[in-house]
Amino acid sequence: MSNPPVRSLARACRAAALLLCCAASAAAAATAHRSALFDSTCSMCHQLGATGVPGEFPRLAGRIGKIAATAAGRNYLEHVLLYGMMGTITVDGTPIVGGVMPSFSSLSNKQLAAALNYVASLDATGKLKWRGPVFKPADFARVRAGKPCSPRQVHRLRTRVLGKANS
Ligand code: HEC
Repeated sequence: MSNPPVRSLARACRAAALLLCCAASAAAAATAHRSALFDSTCSMCHQLGATGVPGEFPRLAGRIGKIAATAAGRNYLEHVLLYGMMGTITVDGTPIVGGVMPSFSSLSNKQLAAALNYVASLDATGKLKWRGPVFKPADFARVRAGKPCSPRQVHRLRTRVLGKANS
């Protein structure tokens, strides 16, 4: 039985399915170098590629990898993610006054490590240059097991680790 309207509807559906399928794989290819977690959870403030907004949200791209080069720097960054931060910091010569970094302790240790490994691997323009797993889930488990901090205490920890010029 051939029914032209049904046949053409079926053709239209197949075409639509094909189109959707292509669009989805193109999107996947385009975002392969990005982090879905960072894009959905952090980029509304830090921007896609973590390039920041001067005076409002610090640029993380090209900066966090440097801070993560020392054990003290990594410990500070783990505290920022788990406990948040409040207090003026100066980034790219511009102070961020009244900025609040929320706590992300509700994320799993694996997600926290993935988010920091991603930002630590970005160059200053927000391009990913994968540096490997600098942060491990166990690092976050260790900080959670220690003394909890207030967002202001994390700011003081930052000053101790990075020096006055940066804070
Ligand atoms: C609601 C906005 C907001 C969101 C969402 C947010 N941040 Fe932040 N973040 C900030 C602000 C503002 C600061 C600076 C805080 C300050 O000035 O004390 C900051 C600071 C930081 C710092 C420390 C930077 C430095 O120079 O020491 C890191 C690392 C960081 N954020 C990572 C992240 C990651 C990773 C996520 C997602 C899991 C995230 N942030 C989500 C607003 C945000």
